[in-house]
Amino acid sequence: MTLVLSPEEIARGVRRLAQEIDHYYLGKRPLLVGVLRGAFIFLSDLVRLLEIPVTVDFIRLPSYGCGTESQGAVRVLQGLSEEIRGRDVIVVEDIVDTGVTTTFLMAYLKRRKPASLRLCVLLDKPSRHRVEVPIDYLGFLVPNVFLVGYGLDLAQAHRQYPAVYALEEEVGP
Ligand code: IMP
Ligand code: MG
Repeated sequence: MTLVLSPEEIARGVRRLAQEIDHYYLGKRPLLVGVLRGAFIFLSDLVRLLEIPVTVDFIRLPSYGCGTESQGAVRVLQGLSEEIRGRDVIVVEDIVDTGVTTTFLMAYLKRRKPASLRLCVLLDKPSRHRVEVPIDYLGFLVPNVFLVGYGLDLAQAHRQYPAVYALEEEVGP
């Protein structure tokens, strides 16, 4: 495994995102929607750095299963507990790879008529995009390698590392 982002680099990135969000939502009380399971560590670090009041909810979408390739069709495995109509919603995602999952999720939430809807993503792999995803708050651009740690898994393993690692060398897009 190769180190891609150290705990210190991640902490700096998350602190910067928290400042951007604090600034933009000053005087508001957004609802952060964490995408399970990959975003749970990122979200928990992020909320502890925010100064504005927030509420937190979760949604669960299918993972890659046992492999490293997205399965294509996306659906909601576990829905929100909160009503989002009229709320300021911030989706908190671990990574945008092909963009298919996030595009589906943003459309799904938009249909529920939030007052505003923005996207906060820790990692973005631009060389893998199949659809364009407008990211409002981005932690880091990453190369086309399969990443684990800081919430990201391979077949449910490796999530617990405090750093982000690449499992293999870079491959073509
Ligand atoms: P997409 O639909 O291809 O953008 O994939 C999005 C989801 O796939 C992310 O939310 C992750 O759960 C998972 N994923 C994508 N790339 C990686 C990776 O490098 N490591 C672990 N999970 C990943
Ligand atoms: Mg995810």
